[in-house]
Amino acid sequence: MKKGFFVLMLAVLCCISACSSAQSTSAKKILIVYLSRTNNTKAIANLIHDEVGGKLVSLELEKPYPENYQSIVQQVAKENETGYLPPLKTKIDSIDQYDVVFVGFPTWGMKLPPPVKSFLKQYDLTGKTIVPFNTNAGYGIGSTFETVKELCPKSNVLDGFTTKGGIERDGVYFVMQGEREKQAREEIKAWLQKIKVQRQ
Ligand SMILES: Cc1cc2nc3c(=O)[nH]c(=O)nc-3n(C[C@H](O)[C@H](O)[C@H](O)COP(=O)(O)O)c2cc1C
Repeated sequence: MKKGFFVLMLAVLCCISACSSAQSTSAKKILIVYLSRTNNTKAIANLIHDEVGGKLVSLELEKPYPENYQSIVQQVAKENETGYLPPLKTKIDSIDQYDVVFVGFPTWGMKLPPPVKSFLKQYDLTGKTIVPFNTNAGYGIGSTFETVKELCPKSNVLDGFTTKGGIERDGVYFVMQGEREKQAREEIKAWLQKIKVQRQ
């Protein structure tokens, strides 16, 4: 009788471990990639990471943009005109392993920043879920989310998140702290619930 009980318990344990390993192989792997110059989008990326986990990666350029605001504005305008894609220093290790890719960026000249275009064009995101997020100086997302959709025609692009960040033009750099950060955290929680993306 004792032996029978032991065998039964063993069978139950095996079943539980088989079930949990099946669950972990089917769990979705999350990558959070972001571009940030004055750290507002980075702060949003961190808040998203707090909620959903996954791998967090900052997009860095081979040749960084100028510090001066007017110079970067001019350079970005020229890159947009010519379609130049700045080479990325950041390399993603086997993108294939990720099912959900969050892509974060500031609005630049009411458009998607060229380095984010470099990322979306460089990697094969076919079949993945893409989740855009943005900060801006108060003028909104411009054409950024539309461009993400255009550059990911074979992905499932979910509704993005946007919030007001800094206003570098006016000397307002990092704002995502204290009350503003708390508020952003709540906005992010509500958005993640709405789009049904959660920690795996
Ligand atoms: C080159 C450049 C262009 C920008 N263009 C816009 C714009 O068109 N509209 C807007 O609302 N904010 C614009 N901004 C402001 C940023 O979107 C805003 O400060 C954002 O929060 C910065 O994010 P970050 O701190 O992650 O770099 C621009 C900033 C830079 C550096």
